[in-house]
Amino acid sequence: MAEAGADNPRGTLAAVAQADDRVVDTALRPQSFEEYVGQQAVVAKLKVYVEAAKRRGEPLDHCLFCGPPGLGKTSLAHLIARELGVPLHVTSGPAIERKGDLAGILTNLARGQILFIDEIHRLPAPVEETLYPAMEDFQLDVVFESGPSARTLKIPLERFTLVGATTRSGLLTSPLRDRFQIVERLDFYDSEDLTAIARRSAGLLGIPIELAGAREIGRRSRGTPRIANRLLRRVRDFAQVQGDGRVTETVASSALARLEVDELGCDAMDRRILETIIEKFEGGPVGLETIAASVGEEGETIEDVYEPFLMQRGLLQRTPRGRTATARAYAHLGRTPTRPAQGELL
Ligand SMILES: Nc1ncnc2c1ncn2[C@@H]1O[C@H](COP(=O)(O)OP(=O)(O)OP(=O)(O)O)[C@@H](O)[C@H]1O
Ligand SMILES: [Mg+2]
Repeated sequence: MAEAGADNPRGTLAAVAQADDRVVDTALRPQSFEEYVGQQAVVAKLKVYVEAAKRRGEPLDHCLFCGPPGLGKTSLAHLIARELGVPLHVTSGPAIERKGDLAGILTNLARGQILFIDEIHRLPAPVEETLYPAMEDFQLDVVFESGPSARTLKIPLERFTLVGATTRSGLLTSPLRDRFQIVERLDFYDSEDLTAIARRSAGLLGIPIELAGAREIGRRSRGTPRIANRLLRRVRDFAQVQGDGRVTETVASSALARLEVDELGCDAMDRRILETIIEKFEGGPVGLETIAASVGEEGETIEDVYEPFLMQRGLLQRTPRGRTATARAYAHLGRTPTRPAQGELL
C-alpha cells in the first residue's frame, strides 16, 4: 500500500495502518510478552492462560483478538505460539474460499498447533459453518451426496488452537464468536506506550533518537504502534536530510507537520472527514455512505480505520441518525458552530 505523506496522492497517514508492511512489521514485532508494550490487562491474562495450558500439557483454548488495524493482534498470535513453543499456521478469512481449503488446513494441524485466521469476519459462510464442529468437537463433518441419501462422515481432528483476529468484531456472527473461549479487545495505546514503542523500534533500526523526539512521535501516532513505526522511519528521513541524523523534538515536530499529522495525531483524511461533516452537512447527522462518497473513501475503511480514532478522540459521534462532528471537532479545526453540535449541550 502507498506510503503516507506528500508522495501519497491520498495523503492519508491512517491508511498505512492497514498496510501489510510485512518486512518492517516482522522486523519490529515484539519477540516476547516482555517486549510487547502496553495492553497490560490483556497481556497479563494471556500469560496466565498460556502458562496454565503449558502446565496441563493441553492445547490453549481458542482466542479471538479484536481491534482497529495496527494495534498488535497479529503480533500477539505470534507471541502466543512462541511462548507455547508450537508452530503458527497463518491464513486469512478471504484466503479460505472453499470448505475443502479449510479441511486441508485443519487435517494438517498436529495437536496443540495454532491456526491463525486474520480478518476472520471475512470467512465465507459455508467455510465458517465447517469451522464450528472443528472448533467445538475437533471434528470435520463431510457431507456426501444430497437429499434423502445424504450421509455425513465425521473426520476426527487433532486438538488445535484457533486464534482469530478481526478489525470488525461487529461483523462476526454470534455462533462463531461464541466458540472462542478467550475474547480480547485491543484498545488504542496511550502516548507513553507509543513513545516506548518508538524508542524500541529506533533502537532496533539503529536510529539515534532523543526522548523528546520519541515523545513527539508517540503523541501523534493515532494511538497505533504500526503508525508510530512508520512515522519514525519518515521522521528519520527528514533528520538525515535536514539535520544531523538525530531525531530531536524539533526535527520530529517539523517532519510531522510536513506529513500533515496535526497536534492530535489526525491526518489529512481525518480532517477531511470532519470538515466534510461540518461544511457540507452542518455538523451532521449524516450517513456513513454519504460521507464516504463526499471524501472519496470506502465506507468500510472509514468505519474500520478513521471512525474508531475520531470517536476515541471525542471528535466524532455516532448517533442512530448518522455521524456528527462534536464541539471539540469544531474547536480543533478552528470553526465556530452555526448551531449547537448535535447531541451536545453548548
Ligand atoms: N504492543 C506492541 N509493542 C511493540 N510493538 C508493537 C505492539 N503492537 C504492535 N506493534 C508493532 O506494530 C506492528 C503492527 O502490529 P500487528 O501487525 O500485530 O497489528 P495488527 O493488529 O495485526 O494489524 P492488522 O489489523 O492490520 O492486521 C508490529 O509489527 C509491531 O512492530
Ligand atoms: Mg494483523
